[in-house]
Amino acid sequence: MCGIVGFIGNQNAKEIILNGLTRLEYRGYDSAGLSLFNNRYQIFDVYKDEGRVQKLIDSTLNAPFSNIGIGHTRWATHGKVNQENSHPHYSQTRRFIIVHNGVIENYQQLKDQYLSKSNFTSDTDTEVIAQLIETFAQTLHVENAITTTLKLLHGSYALLVLDSNDPEKIYAAKYKSPLIVGHSESGITIASDLMALVGYSDTYHALEDKSFVVARREDVKIFNLDHVPLDIKFKPIELDDSDTTKGDYPHYMMKEIHEQPSVIRRIITNYYDKEQSLIKPEILSVMRDSDRIYILAAGTSMHAGLVGKQLIERLTSIPVEVHIASEFAYQNPLISKNPLFILVTQSGETADLRACLVSINERNYRSLTITNVPTSTLAREATYFLELYAGPEIAVASTKAYVAQVSVLAILAYELSTKSFDLKKEMSIAATSMEHFLESEKILDIVRLFLTRRNCFFIGRGLDYCVGLEAALKLKEISYIQTEGFAAGELKHGTIALIEDGTPVIALISDPKINGNTRSNLKEVQSRGAYTFHIVTESCKRDGDEVILEDVHPLLTPLVMVVPTQLIAYYAALERSYDIDKPRNLAKSVTVE
Ligand code: M6R
Repeated sequence: MCGIVGFIGNQNAKEIILNGLTRLEYRGYDSAGLSLFNNRYQIFDVYKDEGRVQKLIDSTLNAPFSNIGIGHTRWATHGKVNQENSHPHYSQTRRFIIVHNGVIENYQQLKDQYLSKSNFTSDTDTEVIAQLIETFAQTLHVENAITTTLKLLHGSYALLVLDSNDPEKIYAAKYKSPLIVGHSESGITIASDLMALVGYSDTYHALEDKSFVVARREDVKIFNLDHVPLDIKFKPIELDDSDTTKGDYPHYMMKEIHEQPSVIRRIITNYYDKEQSLIKPEILSVMRDSDRIYILAAGTSMHAGLVGKQLIERLTSIPVEVHIASEFAYQNPLISKNPLFILVTQSGETADLRACLVSINERNYRSLTITNVPTSTLAREATYFLELYAGPEIAVASTKAYVAQVSVLAILAYELSTKSFDLKKEMSIAATSMEHFLESEKILDIVRLFLTRRNCFFIGRGLDYCVGLEAALKLKEISYIQTEGFAAGELKHGTIALIEDGTPVIALISDPKINGNTRSNLKEVQSRGAYTFHIVTESCKRDGDEVILEDVHPLLTPLVMVVPTQLIAYYAALERSYDIDKPRNLAKSVTVE
């Protein structure tokens, strides 16, 4: 959460930072701020306020040229959303200016122990870092002052630091929160996400935890916290503008929904060479040898994990448990003798999952991270990792990452199975069927008809139940309609009490074997006044069903069934004029526990 961007070189830092912040705004959008060097007065100016990056762009229109600067978009953790708590923060004399992503857990203790005489202007944990650096810099060289401070911090940080006494350098450091250094002829850009570097850097280096960076106009040096130089391995940036912009779509979410068929095809290409799977044989043999697989994830990724469990258990004899990461991390559940942990995560930075992985690693268990971001912390810290190849997902509401996660889990399940069908072919059919639906969808008309209420239910059985959970999360996340995903048969055991005249109940039906059962549950709610709406596959259709999807392989129905539900959420939010890509209170990657 929070996006940070810094630049030093021979170009206009303001433009690079503001463009970077615009691209990173999905990481947090409570406030935005920027610090630039003012050559005339020889000080760093700070511009910051609550609100979006556009406000910052407007307020810095006349800022003088600077070749150095740092910027920030905030998702508030410590202190209200207001101007004072916006980043950048400064030390007491304003010598040091910093932006920070992460949480300093011992900030109060540090304040009491070292800073009882300092005046604070914000309620943030971040300001403590700036004040500590200034305090130590009274007796130490600035680099030592920073690393001494870093060694005292408990929690997580990606930090950029400016020193008014030496406006020729940006200092940076990272622990747990992501930070990437980009390089080009025109300068060094440091940001929390590769996307901020596109167009400004040719190559990048993803920083390891406890790295300390000294960036100058002409070079960058990286050390550990004891000032021992570390290797820098710059790699080419392979993203381009089409990955970071909306193109012709009105919102990133719509673009990403439409990209889903091509994501499935990209996964097939990256995971297969003709009929041969390209997954490391070691990963498959570790899975095969494990006596139990534990899938750990949060939110949408957890819903993909629920589908994964059914696929693995239906195609192999390995039992699978799915756990919510934040629960698993601290509940000490009983673990089997030879487990494998699969961490499913779009961002690869989710703090709840990191807490799980730390304890998995401490206990020397093997782990596999399935993520969209190969440079992410969870990709690097797990025993193995597999990439989702979904391309950057920018809308806060996850869509194409879910489809990618289900696809990769399907491939893993299939590669461990007797291969009684042709998965590649079936995945291609699913991709095409998605495309057919997207070409002719009329979800907006349907949403206008009945999604006017404050609440809604999605019901289904088996894989459709898993999709129902995801559908409910999507609808509540962006339209703020209180929605529950429910096992169709379970409704009558209590929750049916909530059904009133006109309550929308959306049924997902893709399995002919249990079609009749779900239809009975629909009758039960209809007779209590519910307004029902049916999303079904061709082989389950009956007169009056509203959305009919082409049949796909029975194990791949989640890939297609989820698409109309994503559009229901999208249009419900659109009808209410909500900010679809940046829903309230949220941020894209949740790097706090
Ligand atoms: O990056 P991750 O997949 O680990 O994120 C997990 C959840 O925070 C995420 O899926 C969240 O639920 C989505 N915003 C839902 O659309």
